[in-house]
Amino acid sequence: MPDRHEGDARVDSTGTLTGDAGEAGKHEVRLGAVQQTLFIPLVSRARETNRWGPVLRDPKAVELVRAIGYDTKYAEVPGGWGPVLRTAVFDTYVREFLARHPAGTVVELGTGLNTRFERVDNGRLHWFDLDLPDTIELRRAFFEDTGRRRMITASALDEEWLDVVAGSPGPHLFVTEGMLAYFSEEDVHALLARIVRRFPGSFVALDTYSRQMVERQRAMAAARNVSAMTWACDDPGALEHLGLELIDSATITKPPRAMRRKLPLRYRIKLPLADREYGKAGRIAFFRTA
Ligand SMILES: C[S@@+](CC[C@H](N)C(=O)[O-])C[C@H]1O[C@@H](n2cnc3c(N)ncnc32)[C@H](O)[C@@H]1O
Repeated sequence: MPDRHEGDARVDSTGTLTGDAGEAGKHEVRLGAVQQTLFIPLVSRARETNRWGPVLRDPKAVELVRAIGYDTKYAEVPGGWGPVLRTAVFDTYVREFLARHPAGTVVELGTGLNTRFERVDNGRLHWFDLDLPDTIELRRAFFEDTGRRRMITASALDEEWLDVVAGSPGPHLFVTEGMLAYFSEEDVHALLARIVRRFPGSFVALDTYSRQMVERQRAMAAARNVSAMTWACDDPGALEHLGLELIDSATITKPPRAMRRKLPLRYRIKLPLADREYGKAGRIAFFRTA
């Protein structure tokens, strides 16, 4: 089957995206289908940065979006403010963890081209960014390992990376934003149970999506030829049987109190109105392991 052309990029018969390094002089990328979803939050953060009164600023995302030849359909996801607010909620939970454990370790599972370290670094924390080989190869073109921050090439479903992060000072916070919904329920449970077993007294921040939201996303994914979500979870409290204690959870329309206080005016007006439609779509949850 011949390659399809989409925006600055080509998609070959395996669904792999190849950015166009030619005319536009963009960085060439080859990414698998799920990996390409990293452009949704990346583009959202870049756009937010260029808006008046942003909920977060991410100049690195602006640089990356300019530099990489990505498939423009990932820039067309409706409600681009949703991923940005989700990221801001995760940032809030990570900052709260670091306020209590400033020299602890944060592990970003399915990091994509995430720039949370740039926003929350306190000069003392330890950090790992883990993702699949093609994503980390792309990431390495723009980010470097340092003494306190390292990239790990692995699947979150592998076991070896647990040994690597175990050598870093505790407590650990495992953050997974926008990844688990693409896993089967069995894989989500296996990953969380593994973290619980290996890291008692650590913390986990993750996002869940309602059954209804996952159905809606699947229909949209089929129409736009993007990866479809699989794992639905109406209530993050249902994960407690894995040995997790739910400490807090929030939605993008009702963020944690610490974030609500700092919301730009635009969002203070928008969120109560959006709550009816998006309030039950998903949650960001913060757990402690038993
Ligand atoms: C929607 S993106 C989210 C990226 C990032 N967390 C963010 O919010 O900007 C999903 C990410 O999960 C990664 N991913 C998917 N399956 C994975 C796996 N088995 N192990 C590690 N990462 C995975 C993809 O490569 C991609 O970077």
